Amino acid sequence: MGENLHQLRCFGCGNRIAGAEVRPDFRCAHCGELFEVEYPGWSQRGGHDRPNPGALKWLWRERRSSSEALDQSGVWRYREMLPILDNFGDAVSLREGNAPLYHLPRAAKALGIDQLYAKHQGMNPTGSFKDTGMTAALSVARQRGFEWVACASTGNTSASMAAYAARAGLRSLVLIPEGKIAWGKLSQAMDYGARTLQVQSDFDGCLRLLTEIVRQAPIYLLNSVNPYRLEGQKTPAFEIAEAFDWNVPDHLIVPGGNLGNSSALGKGFRELRELGMVARMPHISVIQAAGANPLVRSLVQTQGARLEPVDAQTRATAIRIGNPASWRKAARVIQESGGCCLDVTEAEIAIAKAELGAEGLGCEPASAVTLAGLKKLRAQGAVRPVDTVVLVLTGHTLKDADYTIEFHRGTLLTDEEKRGHDAEIDALRRDAVTVEATAAAVLAALKGEVG
Ligand code: F0G
Repeated sequence: MGENLHQLRCFGCGNRIAGAEVRPDFRCAHCGELFEVEYPGWSQRGGHDRPNPGALKWLWRERRSSSEALDQSGVWRYREMLPILDNFGDAVSLREGNAPLYHLPRAAKALGIDQLYAKHQGMNPTGSFKDTGMTAALSVARQRGFEWVACASTGNTSASMAAYAARAGLRSLVLIPEGKIAWGKLSQAMDYGARTLQVQSDFDGCLRLLTEIVRQAPIYLLNSVNPYRLEGQKTPAFEIAEAFDWNVPDHLIVPGGNLGNSSALGKGFRELRELGMVARMPHISVIQAAGANPLVRSLVQTQGARLEPVDAQTRATAIRIGNPASWRKAARVIQESGGCCLDVTEAEIAIAKAELGAEGLGCEPASAVTLAGLKKLRAQGAVRPVDTVVLVLTGHTLKDADYTIEFHRGTLLTDEEKRGHDAEIDALRRDAVTVEATAAAVLAALKGEVG
């Protein structure tokens, strides 16, 4: 069924091919660009496969009370929007999705906006947003009969792929940049049984290498160049629209690394709009780290016509990417939705992360760029007090505990990086001090804060 319902359309030259015809590197044979999944049956009003908005909204709500494994997945609950499998019963699921949407009253007040929320994709089975995409693409890998899957990763993709491969009984190969990923993520890949290779290169080098490898060996590539990943990763857009009773928020703010996630969320909202389920798309803004900001530069310097790779440097290792594969797709999403693309400094990221922590919502440094970016958008007037804003938090705080501990110990940032932010940082730091095992010593450490 699924193979007949979808096709792949090249994002560059528009060339269309059947799903099974795609080359192992997922690049177009004519122009080298990436593909997007397309559902031809949706294209005409009254077309026989075109989803019926009212019926689907009802069905998706009903499935929330179902005990079927597929219905309990926040991805496959929306399976009418991703008919990519011949048999949905073959989907490899860890009950991903259904990530919480939290209100952020303190940050909202500080920023002078009414409605600020965090969609916490770090609350997925392996602790990052990658799980929503992995369930989709790994299910396709299994359906196509692959025994090996692989990815290059800054850590989260590899953790997610390793877990889903283990569930499906497939072998997995992980290429990570040596010494440049958080331990929490590396430990996951090892624990889930991946063959993990630390490559003496950066993320961009690992992806280049893997592209070469999949051309030579029967290994299925699971980076976000794989368009089926994006089909799964578009589903949080459906969850967000549903949570707002099909009135989309004014702004969605997403971190940008390899730029698959912003592309996927944009596709999700675009499809909802095209099918008449929502009236408009939110403004989708992408935030990068200042030391890894090739898309920001591309939009400023060439209006998104070209992208010059950069030598990426940031402690937010998840988004330490200088040559993002999906930049054209992300640029389109920003432009069509009227969003912005900007970058934030190392100090701004660390402060935003601590502020989210202080609201009881930890996240990875790469996720905190969203709050740091929102502050800038608010200061520029791009976000108004009456706007509803959703930040997409992409990873769980425990993924990179070293970063958090270093921040609170005061050893994370250099003096140069901290300049102008000392007071904010001091107000947020909570170092763990050592005390004698007496009540007097504990109370003295609290310095009268209690009572
Ligand atoms: N946030 C986190 C926590 C990530 O792990 C990533 C990407 C991003 C944001 C950026 O998302 O690449 O879709 O723009 N991590 C990838 C990985 C690259 O290998 O885990 P993107």
